[in-house]
Amino acid sequence: MSARDSMLRRYAVPLAAGVGVGVAVLVAGVRLSPSIGSASGAASAPSAVPAEATEEYGRRLIAHTAELLGPDQGDPDRRFMDSRLNCASCHLAVGTEPGTLTLLQTREHYPRFSGRAGGMTEIEDRINECMQRSMNGRPLPVDSVEMKAMAAYLRGLGGQYDAMSASSRKTDEPPPFATPPRAADRQAGREVFEKRCAICHGGDGLGLLASGDKAKGYLFPPLWGPDSFNTGAGMHRVLTAARFIKARMPLGEPTLTNDEAFDVAAFINDQPRPVMAALENDYPDRSAKPIDNGYGPFADDFPLEQHRFGPFAPIEAYYKALREKK
Ligand code: HEC
Ligand code: HEC
Repeated sequence: MSARDSMLRRYAVPLAAGVGVGVAVLVAGVRLSPSIGSASGAASAPSAVPAEATEEYGRRLIAHTAELLGPDQGDPDRRFMDSRLNCASCHLAVGTEPGTLTLLQTREHYPRFSGRAGGMTEIEDRINECMQRSMNGRPLPVDSVEMKAMAAYLRGLGGQYDAMSASSRKTDEPPPFATPPRAADRQAGREVFEKRCAICHGGDGLGLLASGDKAKGYLFPPLWGPDSFNTGAGMHRVLTAARFIKARMPLGEPTLTNDEAFDVAAFINDQPRPVMAALENDYPDRSAKPIDNGYGPFADDFPLEQHRFGPFAPIEAYYKALREKK
């Protein structure tokens, strides 16, 4: 048993007893993923891919993305991503947990205008944005069974949300992240990481595999390195990451202050990860680019360093004034 395995036992059990859905899924993930193939016959074997785009298959793809579409997938034609994350690594409880990065309300959000794409987008386009960025992969063909299944699952979640009571829609998240009026401190972020994150995500930030078999993906996903999200991903924006981290991490015990969430997001953001090509084509209208975007060009003269790590108040004030002039 490695030190991490014993850590895992120490943490997974009290967490599963003490908190909600996210951790239940985490624990279920450990027990269930090896049985996907055996319990349902050869359902996850490449030759036995469902011919139909069922919501159940969609759920499985979002929960076990690395295994089904990742670089270790046995059928080379079905390898669509280079990372070994699952969609559910960020969209907790396979998107069913209300709150930050929930997918319960996705159906209501589409079609919508995307500043990044510079046009109207559907759920399928948004799935492919996360495929290319969060999963460091390639777009799924829109008429593939996998795309149809994921979209059907997400549309189905909308029905599930409609049927939920007001109390089950509420989250027990801490107050939302508020940006501190200063630049993020990456050294302080490193200390937060070591104290509060390394226990699960590893001292090297590279995560902990679900089993000895890399093909099964991670139990605790990597925060940087070759198996993580790329530089074009939303999570690579420091304010987006800080919002998620403040709301959700440490998993089961989200007690960070705004300062800690900000600093640790910047520390993670500053580590090496896969680089996405042709990012300069994003946001044809540069003034629509989020102020914490990790890459230029911008419609302002603030240095890239400030867009990545703050202070953000001067940039916010600049765009506010620009909008008021219009
Ligand atoms: C590394 C974290 C991460 C991973 C992994 C990830 N996403 Fe996302 N996803 C995000 C972020 C961040 C957003 C954008 C939130 C925002 O715009 O503020 C997002 C947004 C979305 C949305 C839009 C939600 C809405 O209601 O508008 C969909 C749909 C989505 N993701 C699907 C997926 C799918 C499917 C996968 C797997 C193929 C996936 N995501 C993997 C981080 C991730
Ligand atoms: C108790 C274990 C645990 C701790 C401690 C923890 N995390 Fe996580 N984290 C997870 C798990 C598990 C997931 C994936 C969610 C899932 O699979 O249900 C995750 C997902 C993430 C993700 C999105 C996926 C990715 O790989 O980028 C980020 C970012 C993240 N954690 C950051 C942090 C930060 C920052 C801290 C420290 C402040 C932290 N986590 C502490 C267990 C933990």
